[in-house]
Amino acid sequence: ASDVVKVCVTGAAGQIAYSLLYSIAKGDVFGPDQPLCLTLLDIAPMMGVLEGVVMELNDCAFPLLREIIPTADEKVAFSGVSAAFLVGAMPRREGMERKDLLAANVKIFKSQGQAIDQFANKDIKVLVVGNPANTNALICSFYAPSIPRENFSCMTRLDQNRAQAQIAARLGVRNDAVENVIIWGNHSSTQFPDVRHATVEISPGKRIPVYDAVKDDNYLKNEFVTTVQTRGAAVIKARKLSSAMSAAKAACDHMRDWWIGTQDNKWVSMGVVSPGVYGIEKGLMYSFPVRIQNKTWTIVEGLEINEFARKKMDATAVELKEEKDQAMDICKA
Ligand code: NAI
Repeated sequence: ASDVVKVCVTGAAGQIAYSLLYSIAKGDVFGPDQPLCLTLLDIAPMMGVLEGVVMELNDCAFPLLREIIPTADEKVAFSGVSAAFLVGAMPRREGMERKDLLAANVKIFKSQGQAIDQFANKDIKVLVVGNPANTNALICSFYAPSIPRENFSCMTRLDQNRAQAQIAARLGVRNDAVENVIIWGNHSSTQFPDVRHATVEISPGKRIPVYDAVKDDNYLKNEFVTTVQTRGAAVIKARKLSSAMSAAKAACDHMRDWWIGTQDNKWVSMGVVSPGVYGIEKGLMYSFPVRIQNKTWTIVEGLEINEFARKKMDATAVELKEEKDQAMDICKA
């Protein structure tokens, strides 16, 4: 892999990008031998700040970073790009209705979808981080009809990592001892963090179901779920800023697994376009457990869904359907 791979990061002057760019340029995502060209997209008023970010990237003297292209022009940002992190989005301001936020973002992701359609490589992998991430990813893919829909995804990996860390802390084990936690649905407070199929290595070589290790169904069905659902708000309350380091780490995890593949049959969660499995309406951008090989994800099928899970999975699908319908109305208007 010695040819330079071109990677785009949008919202490049923002908080998440500040951590994300460091990890990408260091080789955490595309591998330690993969030279990179980074295109950095932000809006025109941020070009001064972005110049500072470029100075710092240069000053890191990363061996893998061969070229940096800061720009406010989508054509420049997406031309010849093989992987894109769409982080930039319109933030929710005080007094703004959800609908206004959606409308502003539909415009951004429509325009970026069209640019990706025209200028990016056809096998581009697109990860949408900017909120509302699921619906933004859907819109982006809708306006990039020449790119397979499977190449668009949205990030629920931060929710997965949060869920995994909660369980590991509760059991006093390493974070990586917990496997196959699932995030279903929307990256919002209706998401369903599900550990019914998760396992934990409680002693060397001994792996058991999380439900058997925790031995507290009430906690796993209530407090655990709410903690993960509201973790983003808790970070904002404490830090006065939204999650950035952990969001950047999750974006790296997501794209690295997509690029290099998932190991040892493990599952990861990502928002992808529903093919109509698990009773989730076809065409919704919904988070599922997947395995990845040859840069292609496959949904883990056949998991038993009990009544408790069914209700939670449906509730988050209802919210996504509403968002999708609103977004499509805005597009048609
Ligand atoms: P930030 O406000 O620090 O940075 C966002 C950047 O995007 C700004 O520099 C802004 O100028 C830029 N931007 C706005 N419109 C743009 C456009 N049309 N093209 C290119 N750039 C544009 O925000 P932060 O903290 O970096 O978060 C970014 C997004 O990620 C937010 O929407 C946030 O809600 C979302 N997020 C998603 C998470 C997830 O798990 N999916 C987790 C945490 C944050």
